Amino acid sequence: MIERPGNPPWGTSGRSPSLTTVANDGKTIRIGLLGCGNVGGALVPLVQRQADAIEARTGLRLDITRVAVRNMSRDRGVTLADGVLTRDAHAVATDPDIDLVVEVIGGIEPARELISAALVAGKPVVTGNKELLANVGAELFATADANGVDLLFEAAVAGGIPLIRPLRESLRGEPVTRVMGILNGTTNYILTKMSEEGAEYGEALAEAQELGYAERDPTADVEGYDAGAKAAIIASIAFGAKVVAGDVYHEGISGVTSADIEVARRLGYVVKLLGIADRDPATGDVAVRVHPSMVPVHHPLASVRESYNAVFVEGDAVGSLMFFGRGAGGAPTASAVLGDVIDAAVNLSKGTHGTIGSFGKATIRAIDETSAEYLVSLDVADQPGVLHAVTGVFAEHGVSIRAAEQEGIGADARLVFITHQAREADVQATVRDLRNLDVVHRFGGFIRVIGA
Ligand SMILES: NC(=O)c1ccc[n+]([C@@H]2O[C@H](COP(=O)([O-])OP(=O)(O)OC[C@H]3O[C@@H](n4cnc5c(N)ncnc54)[C@H](OP(=O)(O)O)[C@@H]3O)[C@@H](O)[C@H]2O)c1
Repeated sequence: MIERPGNPPWGTSGRSPSLTTVANDGKTIRIGLLGCGNVGGALVPLVQRQADAIEARTGLRLDITRVAVRNMSRDRGVTLADGVLTRDAHAVATDPDIDLVVEVIGGIEPARELISAALVAGKPVVTGNKELLANVGAELFATADANGVDLLFEAAVAGGIPLIRPLRESLRGEPVTRVMGILNGTTNYILTKMSEEGAEYGEALAEAQELGYAERDPTADVEGYDAGAKAAIIASIAFGAKVVAGDVYHEGISGVTSADIEVARRLGYVVKLLGIADRDPATGDVAVRVHPSMVPVHHPLASVRESYNAVFVEGDAVGSLMFFGRGAGGAPTASAVLGDVIDAAVNLSKGTHGTIGSFGKATIRAIDETSAEYLVSLDVADQPGVLHAVTGVFAEHGVSIRAAEQEGIGADARLVFITHQAREADVQATVRDLRNLDVVHRFGGFIRVIGA
């Protein structure tokens, strides 16, 4: 049991606490676990296995005292003492005999209400809930600060990969300019199959579903919502600005074809779904987006295969950093949760807490105002004057062409262009007019080129 600051568990005589402890002697941290699915179910045995080592290092004994779930009769493959399991999550969050709460239920409600109740009751909270933090994170951080407790969330972005703590602590003095990453393992798995085996999108998705990498309803992953929530959290932490999921432009991978991937490969690129957050050094404006991107084959992100995640951070002084690993899965995510639990437990025992700091109001740059190089491919009538008509559309919108190639495909020709850096709005206008040209028989890929 941990007592509040001002009333240390070892009394007020000024003596140091003994590091040799047993349960319920004042050094046991009683954890209330909300949710025992993929992550919670992996956290329970991890805590049980690591408890002795953690106690030896910190003097604190972690004990999962209560576990809230929906279905009491489901077999979770974990060993819990009688009476630990309950259906009443609110009672766990506010139980005066619980010192620290771990929320791994997911979604907005009831997670938001439960976390708020725990914070208001003076309990630190550890969560892996990206959806919640990307929508109402600022409100919850303010509640944590107002109540003098930690709200930690390393697991919410890129699962087992340490990213939030490096951004918050190690890179605190670094003016981070851009963070971009492969933030969703399902889509990276699908794109890897398409790139390496020539699979079409539908086939690769079906295989990912069979292997359990993709949900039956894959929308959140394949349309970029999941990566968008993570990108919003990353942007908030990296730039100290309030960015919510609704500020993130997202475009998924369901429109990417094996032909796009083949064109990219021939030109020396790999197609990845990237979450990108950058800040304009002059204005401080922040742009956050998720979309398929062509990454040069020699860029570190290009070699991240299958369901792995990686995040590439660029700063003025530090240069480039890359964080790589398992971005999801019960055990890797539980590892990140446990790291936070230990931090919060140590802080609690010292009567202290960290603070996320305040988030300034961010001016969000719309996707139209961002710029990149673009790949544009189209099938056109193979006849004189067509190339002139097509390049004329680019010129009309001030989009200059860096490279072009032409290939005969029966009666048609396939034209592939890579532009110089251009404004998104200008490229979108070019694409709209190209689609309306009579000589354009099929509009192919339109992919942003990143990382050069
Ligand atoms: N899975 C990953 O790889 C991963 C990676 C990073 C972050 N996360 C985040 O971690 C969180 C949990 O993910 P997960 O994959 O572990 O989810 P999950 O397998 O669906 O588990 C959710 C758990 O919450 C319980 N639950 C749901 N509603 C409840 C309620 N009203 N009261 C009490 N318990 C309730 C469920 O109970 P029943 O078991 O009885 O249904 C289940 O045990 C999410 O925020 C997710 O985004 C997950």
